[in-house]
Amino acid sequence: MWKIFERVGLAVGIGLLWAFSLCVAQPASKFTADFHGQEGLQCIGCHGETKPTTPTGGDACVMCHDGFAELAKRTENLTPNPHSNHYVAATEPECIECHQGHHADKVLCVDCHSGLKFEKK
Ligand code: HEC
Ligand code: HEC
Ligand code: HEC
Ligand code: HEC
Repeated sequence: MWKIFERVGLAVGIGLLWAFSLCVAQPASKFTADFHGQEGLQCIGCHGETKPTTPTGGDACVMCHDGFAELAKRTENLTPNPHSNHYVAATEPECIECHQGHHADKVLCVDCHSGLKFEKK
């Protein structure tokens, strides 16, 4: 009887190891909130509460991040520069208009420039 349990235990163990190695092999998530989670930043960092149930506003980002002028230096290798262009200058959009919390980033510019991409110089 115990032999069966040992075998089951071993099978579960191998299963877990296999599952674990799969997890490790998975690429890091591309979504903004997941990336912050991987960096050890909790839900409260953006939402202001430990168990959020509603979306957060754009103010959440500027508590930790610099404004567009500083960000533009970080992305000056991209054309056009996502943080420095006529649209950002005119409207100062919220960060979350492009960097979604739990969805893939958007390029809000495509509303007018269809197919626009931020290419590496
Ligand atoms: C980097 C900032 C950030 C972090 C960290 C973050 N969120 Fe969010 N969250 C957002 C933003 C921005 C939105 C609104 C846009 C969206 O849903 O992508 C949002 C939306 C939500 C919503 C509303 C979803 C909906 O469909 O209306 C819930 C619930 C939520 N987050 C829960 C969480 C939980 C739970 C955690 C921690 C595990 C977390 N968030 C961590 C930024 C963040
Ligand atoms: C509690 C502090 C904190 C808050 C709040 C926060 N961030 Fe961050 N964020 C960080 C840190 C720390 C890093 C990693 C260092 C860096 O790249 O500046 C980071 C990195 C990033 C990156 C680069 C990720 C990458 O893939 O390289 C983006 C984009 C970003 N944050 C967007 C946002 C947005 C959008 C919000 C608001 C919804 C937000 N952050 C809110 C602390 C924060
Ligand atoms: C017009 C769209 C857009 C807006 C608005 C925007 N970003 Fe970005 N951001 C990008 C793109 C595109 C990149 C480069 C690709 C990536 O890392 O997602 C980027 C990159 C970043 C990075 C990583 C820079 C690095 O070193 O690689 C951070 C941090 C960041 N953004 C934060 C912010 C914050 C904070 C705001 C609001 C003040 C903001 N962004 C507003 C499009 C935008
Ligand atoms: C409401 C519509 C609209 C939006 C949204 C918009 N643009 Fe434009 N953009 C224009 C118009 C109109 C022009 C001038 C005519 C042209 O060159 O197509 C222009 C011109 C440009 C140019 C060339 C002229 C210059 O300023 O050097 C660039 C680069 C550009 N836009 C980038 C962007 C980026 C990046 C975004 C998103 C952050 C964006 N645009 C969002 C309408 C828009």
